[in-house]
Amino acid sequence: MALLAFFAASVLAATAVLVAGQEGFLSIDCGLEAEFSGRRDTYTNIPYVSDSPYVDGGENHKIAADQMSNTGDDPSLQTLRSFPSGVRNCYTIPTESGAKYLVRMEFMYGNYDGQNSSSVQFDIHLGTNFWDAVSLSSPTDDWWSEAIFVAWSSWVPVCLVNTGGGTPFVSTVELRPLQASLYPDVSINVSMSTFSRKNLGASSFTRFPDDPYDRFWSRRNNSLWTNISTQETIQLDGNFAVPNPILQTAIAPISNGTVIIVSEWESYKASFEFMVFLHFADFQKRRLRQFSAYINNEVLDQYSPKYLTASSVQNSGWYRATDGKYSVILAATNLSVLPPMINAYEIYNLIPHDMPRTSSEDFEAMMAIKREYGVNKNWNGDPCFPPKYAWNGVKCSNVTGNTTRIIYLDMSNSSLNGSISNNFTLLTQLQFLDLSGNSLNGPIPYTLCQKNAGPLIFRYESGEDMCNKTISPPPAGNKIATIISISVVVPMVVVVVLVLSCLFWRRNRKNQSVYALIFQKHY
Ligand SMILES: *[C@@H]1O[C@H](CO)[C@@H](O)[C@H](O)[C@H]1NC(C)=O
Ligand SMILES: *[C@@H]1O[C@H](CO)[C@@H](O)[C@H](O)[C@H]1NC(C)=O
Ligand SMILES: *[C@@H]1O[C@H](CO)[C@@H](O)[C@H](O)[C@H]1NC(C)=O
Ligand SMILES: *[C@@H]1O[C@H](CO)[C@@H](O)[C@H](O)[C@H]1NC(C)=O
Ligand SMILES: *[C@@H]1O[C@H](CO)[C@@H](O)[C@H](O)[C@H]1NC(C)=O
Ligand SMILES: *[C@@H]1O[C@H](CO)[C@@H](O)[C@H](O)[C@H]1NC(C)=O
Ligand SMILES: *[C@@H]1O[C@H](CO)[C@@H](O)[C@H](O)[C@H]1NC(C)=O
Ligand SMILES: *[C@@H]1O[C@H](CO)[C@@H](O)[C@H](O)[C@H]1NC(C)=O
Ligand SMILES: *[C@@H]1O[C@H](CO)[C@@H](O)[C@H](O)[C@H]1NC(C)=O
Ligand SMILES: *[C@@H]1O[C@H](CO)[C@@H](O)[C@H](O)[C@H]1NC(C)=O
Ligand SMILES: *[C@@H]1O[C@H](CO)[C@@H](O)[C@H](O)[C@H]1NC(C)=O
Ligand SMILES: *[C@@H]1O[C@H](CO)[C@@H](O)[C@H](O)[C@H]1NC(C)=O
Repeated sequence: MALLAFFAASVLAATAVLVAGQEGFLSIDCGLEAEFSGRRDTYTNIPYVSDSPYVDGGENHKIAADQMSNTGDDPSLQTLRSFPSGVRNCYTIPTESGAKYLVRMEFMYGNYDGQNSSSVQFDIHLGTNFWDAVSLSSPTDDWWSEAIFVAWSSWVPVCLVNTGGGTPFVSTVELRPLQASLYPDVSINVSMSTFSRKNLGASSFTRFPDDPYDRFWSRRNNSLWTNISTQETIQLDGNFAVPNPILQTAIAPISNGTVIIVSEWESYKASFEFMVFLHFADFQKRRLRQFSAYINNEVLDQYSPKYLTASSVQNSGWYRATDGKYSVILAATNLSVLPPMINAYEIYNLIPHDMPRTSSEDFEAMMAIKREYGVNKNWNGDPCFPPKYAWNGVKCSNVTGNTTRIIYLDMSNSSLNGSISNNFTLLTQLQFLDLSGNSLNGPIPYTLCQKNAGPLIFRYESGEDMCNKTISPPPAGNKIATIISISVVVPMVVVVVLVLSCLFWRRNRKNQSVYALIFQKHY
């Protein structure tokens, strides 16, 4: 019995650990029918949900039947949502304002439209800023883009932008919370996009549960490298938390060479700035291993990896080569006995925050209004920026501190029903609000005209300005009067009745039992 209880407790504990490991994960399988929402991934056991709560517009599709075998057993690539209309279409994902996240979008064309396109290209944006250019060159191509960012609001839009290179689409959107201490270079003002992430010396692709943050680690092979590995546990590093299964494999040059060309690339945008994180943990004989790490000709560090302890080397600031060509190289120093080695690396490019955005208060208020009334216009992404994609009926103030406020909202003739929401009062800088031509009913929130910082023109009925009228104060006064009258009159009546009954009872002692019965029934 005790054993059974212990067993049950361990099962519960194990389940709790599994759930805790995925805490805050949001995994959206785009185009998935709602009836399959919640299906668990065969490899990671992560539940994937349908995308309809997070996006408006677009069309659901399945990849071509003859492409199903090319999804690498990843069912989330079998369905997708495409966006033939509208230049910008966004998923709006719920976040905790101020928390750090990894967001990933995955794309597999799979000839879903039967066009057998040999090239599909479009851009993706994180909020209002350019994040990545997606470029697929065959039906089997599988592209993923990741960004690490700090949420600036309780909603973050991730957007697909049609640049004329085909119809944008997306197969998967995944959100993973990161501990605030991870990737200290990322802040509310600095987001970055994953350019490359490699697990060196590995024999397979790695993600959750090997990496509790579900980062994608690809493997990489090179004829000049030899694989090395260990079973020993490696002590992790606090800034990157590269997990043991990643650190336990590494590469070194073949034939005791002294140089490793870790990565060479050319940037497709001259303006890109890069940050490189090289992850090391030595697990060979404890003899001196010392090397210099370079990005182009700049020495990042002269370095000795620690024994069975993870540590990292990075460039101190965002790096840009004027010719757009980059190489990252490790070269043994003269003192080194052992050749260089490296376990893993990550390369990011800076997501420039060069576009202003709507203040988070106003964005959150607009999201509440949009959801409350089920507005389904072009209302997706940031309400104000970029101006060419601004929400219909919304006008914004001049930018201060890279954010803007909503000052004008015209929702007239929009088939709104229900009552006038208190959420309109959250738009504190509003100067104009038009709700005429709808089927709204119920009282006008008294605070709407009052709470507003500046003067508000509020049209509701037949274009009349309701703020200019004397809006009768809410029935708070009446309520108090009612409460007072009830609380005064009722006891008085009761007392009078009691006194009268008492007198009556004294006079008619003979009928005592009858009146006692009535008294009991009524009080
Ligand atoms: C699709 O295009 C490729 C090359 O562009 C061609 O080899 C293939 O036969 C085409 N498939 C179909 C179904 O048209
Ligand atoms: C972000 O930018 C604002 C405005 O320039 C600044 O006040 C704030 O300190 C910055 N925050 C971080 C974390 O860099
Ligand atoms: C290293 O591992 C990779 C992946 O398993 C493999 O393709 C490659 O041949 C290995 N390299 C050597 C030199 O054994
Ligand atoms: C890795 O590279 C080695 C040497 O070039 C080669 O023999 C091997 O087949 C490659 N493995 C893979 C999986 O590409
Ligand atoms: C590499 O160096 C070690 C120690 O100096 C030596 O024992 C080994 O034979 C060398 N291996 C090769 C392939 O040269
Ligand atoms: C390493 O040795 C080479 C050749 O002997 C020499 O030119 C170079 O200055 C030495 N480098 C260092 C850092 O000692
Ligand atoms: C506004 O954006 C510009 C361009 O990215 C940046 O240089 C500046 O620091 C930002 N200002 C604030 C207040 O965040
Ligand atoms: C906003 O900017 C425009 C153009 O720069 C300017 O004419 C206008 O006065 C500004 N408005 C406010 C309220 O600052
Ligand atoms: C709403 O309808 C009224 C009456 O037909 C019209 O005057 C007004 O311009 C319309 N508003 C919008 C934004 O279309
Ligand atoms: C508004 O209209 C929609 C569709 O006609 C209906 O489903 C919804 O219940 C209505 N809401 C209110 C608050 O009347
Ligand atoms: C906004 O509207 C939603 C839906 O009606 C409601 O739950 C929420 O309390 C409102 N927020 C405020 C501040 O009124
Ligand atoms: C607002 O009220 C003032 C004073 O009663 C009046 O002169 C003005 O015409 C009104 N404005 C509008 C837009 O109704």
